[in-house]
Amino acid sequence: MTGRIRLGVNIDHVATIRNARGGEHPDPARAAKIATAAGADGITFHLREDRRHIVDPDLAAIRASTHLPLNMEMAATEEMHVIAMDYKPQTVMFVPEKREERTTEGGLNAAREHNKLTPLIRELQANGSRVSLFIEADPVQVIAASRMGADITEFHTGRYVEMCQAGEGELAAAELERIADCARQAVALGIEPQAGHGLTFDTVIPVAAIPEITELNIGHFLMGEAIFVGLDGAVREMRRLMDEARPPGEPS
Ligand code: PXP
Repeated sequence: MTGRIRLGVNIDHVATIRNARGGEHPDPARAAKIATAAGADGITFHLREDRRHIVDPDLAAIRASTHLPLNMEMAATEEMHVIAMDYKPQTVMFVPEKREERTTEGGLNAAREHNKLTPLIRELQANGSRVSLFIEADPVQVIAASRMGADITEFHTGRYVEMCQAGEGELAAAELERIADCARQAVALGIEPQAGHGLTFDTVIPVAAIPEITELNIGHFLMGEAIFVGLDGAVREMRRLMDEARPPGEPS
């Protein structure tokens, strides 16, 4: 696959700032609207079990604020399944969730979760949502995702970003190669490969240049940068860098 790579903007941390004080400001739905106007291709949010950022009433407000496809990240719990079946986002992304973590730390162990996830995936797909699994760039996980019938795998780029930021260029290049190999493997198995986590202006280009990857989901850095340049400017600059990595052509 080649062509324009999509940008999914994760708006969780607008809600993190709001919730630090309570009240309604800043509103993640307003961020979704601005990101939409700035060239985002999708809006992502994670409804966590502890509701530390996005909360239930945000869901309807986000939907009303954008025409873009919505990607709802969630843990595979009964509570979240009921919410997703009712909300019908374009995509449900299963992520591992631990209460004590600051952010999603690792990918799913898709192989171990097979029996639990497979029926949930089937039900969500029959309900009209595509299903994505957030996994490490590991061939075993890609095969497991394929056996479960996932539509999408999002490869965790957190380790690659950390290696870049630590100046570990060779390790980062090897991790990038693993992501590219797994993206090719996913395509061969009929799965759409996406990527995300931790990406910044300085680290996005090599990931966006992997031709098989169709979409990047980016949040924390964009929201941090928005403090300095505004959300519109931050999204536009990320979009520009992604287009520089892979000049827009035929739609993928
Ligand atoms: N993908 C997944 C599965 C995530 O959990 C997150 C963080 O919520 C992201 C992408 C975006 O990561 P970041 O906020 O570091 O850009």
